[in-house]
Order: sequence, then C-alpha cells, then structure tokens
Amino acid sequence: MKDGDDMDKEMKILAIESSCDETSAAVVVNGRNVLSNIISSQINIHEKFGGVVPEVASRKHIEVISAVVKTALDEAEIKLEDIDAIGVTYGPGLVGALLVGLQYAKGLSYALKKPLIGVNHIEGHICANFIEHKYLKPPFVCLVVSGGHTFIVYMKDYGEFEVLGQTRDDAAGEAFDKVARAIGLGYPGGPKIDKISKEGNENAIKFPKAKFDGDTLDFSFSGVKSAVLNYLNKMKMKNIEINTADVAASFQKAVVDVLVYNAIKACKMKKVKKIAIAGGVASNSCLRKTLIYECKKEGIEVLFPAPILCTDNAAMIGSAAYYEFIKGRTASLDLNAVPNLKLGER
Ligand code: KG4
Ligand code: ZN
Repeated sequence: MKDGDDMDKEMKILAIESSCDETSAAVVVNGRNVLSNIISSQINIHEKFGGVVPEVASRKHIEVISAVVKTALDEAEIKLEDIDAIGVTYGPGLVGALLVGLQYAKGLSYALKKPLIGVNHIEGHICANFIEHKYLKPPFVCLVVSGGHTFIVYMKDYGEFEVLGQTRDDAAGEAFDKVARAIGLGYPGGPKIDKISKEGNENAIKFPKAKFDGDTLDFSFSGVKSAVLNYLNKMKMKNIEINTADVAASFQKAVVDVLVYNAIKACKMKKVKKIAIAGGVASNSCLRKTLIYECKKEGIEVLFPAPILCTDNAAMIGSAAYYEFIKGRTASLDLNAVPNLKLGER
C-alpha cells in the first residue's frame, strides 16, 4: 500500500489560506514540492490597531484573493485546468476571513470539476515540516506554537493526531504579542521580542513558569503575562526606568523553558526520538536554540521549517491537503467555515 510519499502520479494542489491576516495561495506537488507560495500580509494595516481587526481582515482578503491566486499560478507556470485538486483552510480561524478563502476555493472546485479538500489550519502548520524535510515521516511529536494556538501533538500517521497538551488560557504567540505591546514594542510582538532579547539578560528578572501537577502536558501563559504587567506597574510606581531588553529576554526565557520542558516530556511519554516545531513562534531563535540544546542531551532529533513556512502560508495547507486526499477525505460544496475546529475533528 502506498503511503502518499511514493505515488507514481504527480498530484498538483492549489491551496488557499485566509484564516487570519494573511491571504495566501500556493501550488504544491505531492505534498512536498512547492512550485509557488504567495503571501499577502495585512500586518501594516492591523499594526495601528495593535492586533487583527476581524472585519478589516475579511475585507482585505476579498480585495486581494484573486490576484494572489493568479500570481501563485503564474509563478508555478501552471494553468488552472492543470490543477488536480483545491485545498483550503476551513478552520480554526476568524469566521469572516475563513469564508473568503473557502468560498473562493468552492467556486474554483465547482467550475473546474476538481475535488475540494478542507484543511485544518493546525494540521497545515504541522505539515510545513514535510515541505522542509523531504524524508520526514510520522510518527513524531510536534509542538505547535502560534498566535492563536499552543498544542503538543503526537502525529501517529499522516492525517492522524493525538493532542497531548494544550494551553488553558493564552496561546504562546498571544502572550508574546501582549507583552510586546505592554513594553512598547508594537505588533506583532513575537519577532520584536525575539530581536531585542538578544541585547538583554534572560536571568535579570524571575518570571513564573507555569507547570501543572501530574501527567498533563498542558500550558498556561496568562500567569507569566500578568507577572510582566505587574512588574511594569511596580517599576512605574517606584519611578524606576525599566530595561526593555532585560524584560523581553526574561519573559521569553520563561515561555521557552516551559515549551521545551513539555516537548521533551511528550517525546519520553510516546517513546519517540523526533520532535518537530511549527507555527509562528517556531521562528523564535531562543526556542530553536534551547530545544536543540536540551534535545541533544536526550538524543532527540529536532526539526523545524524555514521561518516563511512557520508563519501562515498556503504551501503548508497544500501539503496537508495532499495527505488528507490520500486518506480519501474530500469535501462537498456545502463545506462551511468552522472557527473553533479541533485537530482531528471532521
Ligand atoms: O502561525 P502564525 O503566523 O499565525 C497564527 O496561526 O496564529 O503565528 C503568528 C504568531 C504571532 O503571535 C507572532 O508574534 C508570533 O507568531 N511570532 C513569533 C516570532 N515570529 C512570529 N513569536 C516569537 N518569536 C518569533 N520570532
Ligand atoms: Zn497559523
């Protein structure tokens, strides 16, 4: 039985992603080979609001989606009629934003009479690793850390997931963004905290690292976020100027240590020696460095995608769509957006 990595026929998927503030389209062959990956970011529009404004996001997706898809096809040097299937993110995400990509994909599927494949955005983030690492196969543990989600997942097989742990409050990226705003770095905060932390002392301030008792691999980041806000208030009341780089580096260290601790614990629980990271926060240089360092001691291999495949993009959706298709999972034209779609839920 072929597992999708040794298919004789080439399958070209046009993938569309519009779950948050990036409109993206890509052409991906057999889940691994990216012919194009066009990303139109709205970051400069949402920056002045300090976060993504859902209605503005939907309207911007509508304006650019046709041009983004056309550019993806042109760059891949492929005609619409040569596409074998359409993959699209249908959740989780902002409902209005998701509907733009979904409706566009459905229109294409109907007009071209080609299969429609609904993709879970989180599965897409995980599959970014298949694009980066051509020979990577399940099983492995994946730490998914993005602006909206924090999960530790055991990927048993293509399209088969077991959620081992998740955040009980803020997502890791959300905590980065909120702390960045509080220390005056702006939106999106993750990359800015990453950069300024390089000039700071990560041991300057002790922020709490939330760990739960027992076997759970769940996370909590609201405590560390509140601790930073309390620290800032205390310093303000005492009229003491804060060292932004030290605050950023100490906060980052507190978050990264917990992520790495749980990720290694998951590998031990599942007896696997391979961990992949995914999602926007997977670009974080401290997370990458610490994970590699700690995993080396345990003999665990660490894999991560290039930064462009960590943040939202359609190539990762094209990869996930391929493995969903191999499993025989296609969607009908009544597919709706599911803002709270769970991993593994259909
Ligand atoms: O995966 P993504 O593009 O969107 C979601 O699906 O949420 O992740 C965006 C998140 C934002 O919170 C951003 O601040 C964070 O990823 N991020 C980072 C870094 N680059 C992006 N966080 C920490 N360090 C980075 N270098
Ligand atoms: Zn994402």
